[in-house]
Amino acid sequence: MISVQIQTAAYLFASILFILSLGGLSSQESAKRGVLYGMVGMAIAILSTVLGKDVQGYTYIIIAVAIASLIGIIVARKVEMTSMPQLVAILHSFVGLAAVLVGFGSYLDPHTQTLQGSEHSIHLIEVFIGVFIGAITFTGSIIAWGKLDGKIRSKPLVYPGRHVVNITLVVISIVLGVLFTMAHGTDGMIYLYIMTAIASFIGVMLVMAIGGADMPVVVSMLNSYSGWAAAAAGFMLGNDLLIVTGALVGSSGAILSIIMCEAMNRSFLSVIFGGFGATPITSNDEEIEGEVTSTTHEEVGELLKEANNILIVPGYGMAVAKAQYPVYDLVEMLQKEGKKVTFGIHPVAGRLPGHMNVLLAEANVSYDIVLEMEEVNDDMAETDVVLVIGANDIVNPGAITDASSPIYGMPVIKVWEARKVIVMKRSMATGYAGVQNPLFFKDNADMLYGDAKDSVDKINMALKS
Ligand code: TAP
Repeated sequence: MISVQIQTAAYLFASILFILSLGGLSSQESAKRGVLYGMVGMAIAILSTVLGKDVQGYTYIIIAVAIASLIGIIVARKVEMTSMPQLVAILHSFVGLAAVLVGFGSYLDPHTQTLQGSEHSIHLIEVFIGVFIGAITFTGSIIAWGKLDGKIRSKPLVYPGRHVVNITLVVISIVLGVLFTMAHGTDGMIYLYIMTAIASFIGVMLVMAIGGADMPVVVSMLNSYSGWAAAAAGFMLGNDLLIVTGALVGSSGAILSIIMCEAMNRSFLSVIFGGFGATPITSNDEEIEGEVTSTTHEEVGELLKEANNILIVPGYGMAVAKAQYPVYDLVEMLQKEGKKVTFGIHPVAGRLPGHMNVLLAEANVSYDIVLEMEEVNDDMAETDVVLVIGANDIVNPGAITDASSPIYGMPVIKVWEARKVIVMKRSMATGYAGVQNPLFFKDNADMLYGDAKDSVDKINMALKS
């Protein structure tokens, strides 16, 4: 058992480690250190909480921590890099559920029943708001998990008058909140239950209304919600560290959402309120002019031998195929020949913020040749060959030219402005946003069909021969 002073000092230390962790995660070079700070901070946080005064039932705590740690280790070892977004979404749902359960528990806790006057009212408001945010986060994250996992259609579910329905539900929740704070003893439980059901419904509808290319923002937005849910749980439990940690996650998630919205040229409000003011777009069945041409691995090998300036644009397909390792070999080979090779990374490539950067770092690709979209777009005209590896939406010219496209307005990597483009994918299938890509029909673009890893392996062989 530790004293309150030591616990406060430990909380402060853990908070500093969490801030250092977030700082570390902002660049690839320091990301590992950032994760380490986070792990140490979390270990200190758990220990200093569990060893705090008034904590009992150590046997249950140890059993629960052991079971949870085992599940965590198994899941982390088994999960594929491509399933990471789903895992993150489902973990957010746990934070939401925890806030709801803490809220129920805290309301029924006999100790909190003894609170008087404004202290009591403030506690009830904390419980009500905490459960509200928690329930939205819980169900919203489950829907996000379903959409990212392909179990629920990613297309936005919008119906006329949905904003009126949502606003009405929020107003009803506020009325229930007033009744809840006025109820005696634990009589307000019924209002809490009804509000939980309403908030759960709002969570479902909010995320159902967002889809397609806006999904990246949903992931970061739910990250933010889970932070606020944790902070709310911190208020209910009177735990300062949980409040600080929740606020850190909540605000960093909100900042990330804004950055993602800017990167995709979307209005933040329109995304979080489920396409508020956006016109639902049905499809872009417009006829695309031009003919699709394909090429072979040997031809691509020859093309690369001739080229001096080569750009690689990876996308979700590179993650699926685990092609980053042969891509590293390809880059090594080309660089040995004195060629300039760079990577162009779109902010929403793949299915997670920073997805491509993580894969390339995993394969030991040097950070200094991994460039952002704006940097490569400026030099596109001087690029001899672009290898598009398993990317689709992020290189779709329709985002600039086709006003009926669901991704219209999203900045893309303008690969078609280079001299030659090779698109490596298995078929003519669409990407996440479900729209056809006019790039494939351009005169200077050739398709190289097949699994991305297999194709890069074969190009490497062609280069060696
Ligand atoms: P997508 O547009 O999803 O396209 C990926 C392409 O990879 C597919 O068209 C697929 O075509 C191909 N592919 C799949 N498996 C492959 C394999 N084994 N070998 C070769 N190709 C393979 O990916 P993107 O260009 O990276 O764009 C990302 C999209 O996801 C955006 O719409 C974005 O908004 C959305 N999104 C992003 C995030 C974040 S945070 N990054 C989160 C959720 C959604 P084939 O089937 O023909 O091979």
